[in-house]
Amino acid sequence: MNLSAVSFEQELLSYLPPEEPLIRTVIEAMRYSLTAGGKRIRPLLTLSFATLCGGTQEAAMPFACAVEMVHTYSLIHDDLPCMDNDDLRRGKPTNHKVYGEAAAVLAGDALLTLAFDTILSDRAVALNGCEKCVRAGQMLSACAGAEGMIGGQIIDMESEGRTVSAQHLAAMDRKKTGALIRAACLLGCISAGADEQQSKAAARYAECIGLAFQIVDDMLDVLADEVALGKPVGSDSKNNKSTYVTLLGMEECRQRSVALTEEAIKSLSAFPKGTEPLVQLARQLCDRQK
Ligand code: IPE
Ligand code: IPE
Ligand code: MG
Ligand code: MG
Ligand code: MG
Repeated sequence: MNLSAVSFEQELLSYLPPEEPLIRTVIEAMRYSLTAGGKRIRPLLTLSFATLCGGTQEAAMPFACAVEMVHTYSLIHDDLPCMDNDDLRRGKPTNHKVYGEAAAVLAGDALLTLAFDTILSDRAVALNGCEKCVRAGQMLSACAGAEGMIGGQIIDMESEGRTVSAQHLAAMDRKKTGALIRAACLLGCISAGADEQQSKAAARYAECIGLAFQIVDDMLDVLADEVALGKPVGSDSKNNKSTYVTLLGMEECRQRSVALTEEAIKSLSAFPKGTEPLVQLARQLCDRQK
C-alpha cells in the first residue's frame, strides 16, 4: 500500500509556501501534519486511475497532492477539542497539541486553500491544460464541501449520543469519507481524459471502497492496537458516536466490508487490462491493521 513514486512526497512539500519569519508558525504546522506519516491512499488512487485510464502519473501528481492536502486538513480539524478531541494522529501528537488550537484551525484552513492553489498552479495547467484543471477544481470542491465531506462531518457531530438507522449511517459515511475517496479516483480520470464509461466504473469502485473504508475504520477504533494504528483506540465510544460497529456488530461489519470490496473489484471489469494494482489496493484496505 505504498506510493512507489518517492517524488510524491517531494512534490507535496514543493507546494508549501516559503517559511517567511512572520508566518512561520502556520507553515510549520502545515508541514508537521503533511509529513506525519499518512498512508497516502487518496493520492495513490488518483495516480492509479490516471494510469489505468491512459494518462500519466506526472500530470496527475498536482491533483494527487491537492486531495492529500484536503484530507490532511480534514484530519487536523477532526481532531480538535470541539470535534473528536483526540491527542494522537499518524503516530504523533495532534496538530493542536503541538501548535495550539488557533494555529491548528489556521493550518487546516491554509491546507484547504493550498489544495485549490495547487490544482490551479502553473505546473498543473502546463501538464493538464486549463479545462481539466477547472474540472478537477469543481470535482474536489464539490466532494470536500457542504454537500460532501463537510456535510458528512456535521451529520457525524449531530449523531453523537443518538441511535441512528443504517440508512442514516450510510448517508453520513458516503459524504464523510466516501466523497473524498470519490474525488481522489475521479481526479485521476479527469487528468487522463477518461471516457464516461471509465469514469462511471471509477465512481462505482470509489463508492464501494469508500464505504468499506469507513466500516473498517470504525472496526479498528475498537479492535486495533493504538501504536500500530497511530491514533487513539476507543475514540468513537468516548464520543458516543454512531458507527457501523455500534449499529451492526463486528461480524456483520466484517461481512459487509468484504462484500463491498468484492463489489469494488467487480466494477473494474469495465477496464480491459491494468487493474491489478487497484484490485490489490481494495483488498489491502479491507484487511488493513491501520
Ligand atoms: C482516516 O483516514 C480518516 C477517515 C476518513 C476514516 P486514513 O486512514 O486514510 O488516514 P491517514 O491519511 O492514513 O492518516
Ligand atoms: C473522520 O472520520 C473523517 C474526516 C476527517 C472527514 P473519523 O473521525 O472516524 O476519522 P478518525 O478515526 O479520527 O481518523
Ligand atoms: Mg470524526
Ligand atoms: Mg476522528
Ligand atoms: Mg474513525
